[in-house]
Amino acid sequence: MYCVRNVTDDLYWVGGNDRRLALFENIHPIERGVSYNSYLLLDKKTVLFDTVDWSICRQFIENIEGVLGDRSLDYIVINHMEPDHAASIEEVIIRYPDAKIICTEKAAMFMHQFGFQVSDRIIEVKEGDTMSFGKHKVVFITAPMVHWPEAMVTYDTTNGVLFSADAFGSFIALDGRLFNDEVNFDRDWIDEARRYYTNIVGKYGPHVQALLKKASTIDIKMICPLHGPVWRNNFEYFLDKYNKWSTYEPEEKGVLIVYGTMYGNTEAAANNLAISLAKKGMTNIAMYDVSKTHVSYLISESFKYSHIVLASPTYNLKIYPPMLNYIMDMKALNLQKRTFAILENGSWAPQSGKLMRELIESMKDMTILDSEMTISSSLKEEDADLIEEIADNIINSMK
Ligand code: FEO
Repeated sequence: MYCVRNVTDDLYWVGGNDRRLALFENIHPIERGVSYNSYLLLDKKTVLFDTVDWSICRQFIENIEGVLGDRSLDYIVINHMEPDHAASIEEVIIRYPDAKIICTEKAAMFMHQFGFQVSDRIIEVKEGDTMSFGKHKVVFITAPMVHWPEAMVTYDTTNGVLFSADAFGSFIALDGRLFNDEVNFDRDWIDEARRYYTNIVGKYGPHVQALLKKASTIDIKMICPLHGPVWRNNFEYFLDKYNKWSTYEPEEKGVLIVYGTMYGNTEAAANNLAISLAKKGMTNIAMYDVSKTHVSYLISESFKYSHIVLASPTYNLKIYPPMLNYIMDMKALNLQKRTFAILENGSWAPQSGKLMRELIESMKDMTILDSEMTISSSLKEEDADLIEEIADNIINSMK
C-alpha cells in the first residue's frame, strides 16, 4: 500500500522512514530514526526528485506506482548521489525504463563509480541550466560540497519550491506530519537538525554560505529537503541557524563542559566548576561525560555554545582517548570561534593540558583562557580558588 502526502496540488512526497537503522552512515546514532525524502511532480511530464536509501526501497516503489498510476516516469532529477538518496535509482529504472536522469557531470561520474548502468539516459546540467516539464520550469543551481562535490539544488520557478538536497535536512523520522508548521521544530527537532548539520555538513561552512548567498537571490516559497520536514514558512528561523552554523558563530552564550573521568576525580573538578559558574549567574551550562556521550552529540553542542571546558585525565602520557577523539572530530569539522578553558588531571606526569592546548591552538580563531588547572589525582580544598578564577574568567570573557 502506498503512503504519500501532497506537498502542493501536483507535487507529492513519496519518501519514507527508517526507524530500524541504528547508525546513520554507520557512525551517527539515530535513536529517533531518519526520513529519506523524495518528491514526485505530475506535470505534462512526470518528474521524480531524488530517490531513497535501499532500506526503504519497497515502500518507495509502491509510493511511486501509487501516485503515477497508469502514467510513466519521464525524468529523475538527482540532486545528490550519496547512497541514502541515490541507492534506488536502478530499481526505479527497471520499472520505468524510459526515464531520463538529469544530474551534474560529477553525479554522472559517481553513478558510474557506484556501478549503475545508466550512462545511456543521462542529461547533464550545469549551473543555471533550465528545463520545462510543462507548467513547471526549473533551474538547476550547483551546490558543491553541500554535502558532496556533485550536489546541486533544483528551483521550481513556477511555484517557488526549492529541492534543497541535504541542505535544511534533519535526523528524525517523519510521523505523518510533513511540514515544519505541523511540528514544534524549536522544541522537538532543532537539536537533531543541528546534530545532522554539524556532523554531516559542518566541515563545509564556506560552501553552505555560498549556497545561502545564491538562495537569497530567489523567491523561495517552499523548501523540500532530502531529510526531515518540508519548510513552507518561517524560513528566517532556519536560515538564521544555518547562517550561524556555517559561519561557526555560536548560537548561545553558554558553557559546554566535556569531561573525561576514569574514577570520578576529574568529574568532581568539572562539577565544582559547574557549580561555581551557576552560583555566579552563568546558568546556561551543558555537561557531558566524554566516554558516555556519542561524539556526534558533543559536536552538535560544540556548535551551539560559545565556551567549552575540556577536562581530561592523562592516559599513557597522552590525552584520554575519548577526549582526543572528540577534539580531533571538532578539528576535522572545522569548528572555529570558541573560547576554551582547560583542566588536566595526572597522578604522576600530567600531559593532557599541554596536548589539548596544542590541538586547540592548531584550529582557527580559537581562544584559550589563561587560567589552566592541573589536578593531581583529586581536587583539594586549596584548588577552590583556581576553580573560582576559571569561572570568573569564563564569565568575564563573555562580556
Ligand atoms: Fe543525506 Fe549527503 O546524504
